[in-house]
Amino acid sequence: MPDRHKEGKSKYTADRNMPGAFDGETVTRRRFMTAVTHSAGGVAAMAFTLPALGFALGPIFSREPFNWQAIGKQADFKDATTYVARVIELVQGIGEAGKSIAYVRARNPAIDTEPEDQYNHFIALSSRCNHLGCPVRFVPAASRFICPCHGGVYDFRGLVAAGPPVRPLDRFYTRLNKTTGLVELGPRYSVNSELQRFSPRDPGQPLDGIGQYLYPATRSQRRA
Ligand code: FES
Repeated sequence: MPDRHKEGKSKYTADRNMPGAFDGETVTRRRFMTAVTHSAGGVAAMAFTLPALGFALGPIFSREPFNWQAIGKQADFKDATTYVARVIELVQGIGEAGKSIAYVRARNPAIDTEPEDQYNHFIALSSRCNHLGCPVRFVPAASRFICPCHGGVYDFRGLVAAGPPVRPLDRFYTRLNKTTGLVELGPRYSVNSELQRFSPRDPGQPLDGIGQYLYPATRSQRRA
């Protein structure tokens, strides 16, 4: 009687001298069990990895809405030698926590040498310090913005004059609504030390040199 285990290429793992073989185990069963084990491992790995990936990548694909908000009449900001503070709403629907202060003045061609366009007839600076985000205060007597946290100082145009901030104060697009006659403030943008515009970045993210590549804007920031 022919030995079925020895005929041709055997289907039994023992006949093929496969590691861990036991009597009666077929190659098909071995492959099936291996596939099941690998699949279970993959599912377990995804259970850990996917939530972490979603948490990390989610903000990249979300976009935050913004509205142009009226901040006053044109005459309120006609003095180009000082700033007027205005409370603005950065995040809607969360009350006081979503509010901040913008410092606004008319553009002064004598000192505002960055290219003029329809969105910078009024200069609106963010009060968020670009070291760690503390609120800065404009001091008229010194024509400086002072940060109380770590001694950051910005000059009249919002450029870093001293201390640890890594880039000038952020700005907001502004426009004059010809229908209402009101000055409106739009999205925030960041600038480098030459006041070139970039999509808004977070505090601590420099924009000079390779900084703009080391800290690219996320999709939610890329809206201006
Ligand atoms: S947060 Fe403004 S200097 Fe540190």
